[in-house]
Amino acid sequence: MKQRTAPDLFEPGLFDGTRFYDVFAWYRENEPVSWQHPAGEPEGFWSVTKYRDIVAVHRDTARMSSTKGMRLGSTESAVAAVANKMLIVSDPPDHTRMKRVLIQPFSNEVLARAEEYVDQVVADVVATAVRNPEPDLITHLARIPTDVICAIMGIPQSDWAWIGAKTTEAFESPSEVQRIMANGDIFKYFTDMVSANRRTATNDFISGLTARHDGGTQLTDEELVFNLSGVLAGGNETTRYTLAALTHQLAEHPDQWRRIAGGEVVPADATEEGLRWSVPGMHVMRTTTETVRVGDVEIGPGQRVVTWIGSANRDPEMFDDPDTFDVGRSGNRHLSFGAGRHICLGSRLARLEITAYLRALRTMVSTIGLEGEPRYNGSNFTWGLNELPVVLRA
Ligand code: HEM
Repeated sequence: MKQRTAPDLFEPGLFDGTRFYDVFAWYRENEPVSWQHPAGEPEGFWSVTKYRDIVAVHRDTARMSSTKGMRLGSTESAVAAVANKMLIVSDPPDHTRMKRVLIQPFSNEVLARAEEYVDQVVADVVATAVRNPEPDLITHLARIPTDVICAIMGIPQSDWAWIGAKTTEAFESPSEVQRIMANGDIFKYFTDMVSANRRTATNDFISGLTARHDGGTQLTDEELVFNLSGVLAGGNETTRYTLAALTHQLAEHPDQWRRIAGGEVVPADATEEGLRWSVPGMHVMRTTTETVRVGDVEIGPGQRVVTWIGSANRDPEMFDDPDTFDVGRSGNRHLSFGAGRHICLGSRLARLEITAYLRALRTMVSTIGLEGEPRYNGSNFTWGLNELPVVLRA
């Protein structure tokens, strides 16, 4: 890269497309751990762009805390209200205790029972998309993660559309007030569901989480409500972005689609490349609890550290030809699900949905046609496509 001065990671519109990959490449080559202080922000933070440094930050739970928030732009009081009560903004020992309970419904054995249902939902979505093409394929794709996670959580089907829309609002509304209110609505919904289940015990998902398993790991009602919201949020937004990105790339690269359709590449491998490419969790944040060296930089206590997963997934030290979309890539150790103790709770479920989607495409679709310009949501956190003019043809 020829540019001498550091490019602006916070240039307005940078995440409206994919230009940020060049910015990440500059930082990886010139200043892998850099101090950033975006205009208008009260505080700066350390920005980490190399794969190996990012893995080190994620694994260092003892000195890299999640309790001050795990993303940029969150409100201090909102984080304080859920810290050590919601998995993603907790440190051990609370994190360990809660994860032990929450991981159970997402284990391989339990999910094996959901596989048939996932296949049905996905087949129905793909068949519907082929029969009734919409100007935006995401209208169809959005149903996959929402229907699957709502069914797993035992949410009544009449509420699925409301839940889907509220989660998107809680994540993506440009207004902070709107986001906080949408989160409040979701918390209220789950508070009612948890107290109804105390009386009726009809929700197997909640009853499973409240049953005492090994002595002391039961969740309080408050923890239960916060974590049901966390699971719903994690399950709903992110997988949709990977499904959309994968479809977009297959439309752009018919040769790659033919490798899957013709059976040369198995859906499981193409799923991993879709995950590497899509990066629905673009950054993750931690706060240091003591002095830590990251790369060549010594970082004092109480400092914010941001890891750019999108940069890790394109690091040439880790991936051959990282800017090429290659569905048959081997040794694809992308960081899209994070690393260390906070590694994604729903990674198996997400993989199940994405692989089922590729299998359904292979069975029902011959061409994937791009009919216009896709649009990115512009977020540097849950980054992805929110408009995808693609038509699936039988
Ligand atoms: C393509 C799909 C997905 C991506 C890319 C993704 C990404 C991530 C990442 C990067 C983290 C780590 C955050 C951190 O280190 O602070 C994470 C954690 C988490 N994810 Fe996912 N996720 C996906 C799907 C799901 C699904 C389907 C669920 C629903 C079960 C889910 C629930 C969670 C939860 C509850 C955590 C917190 C785990 C912890 O703190 O120990 N995610 N996810």
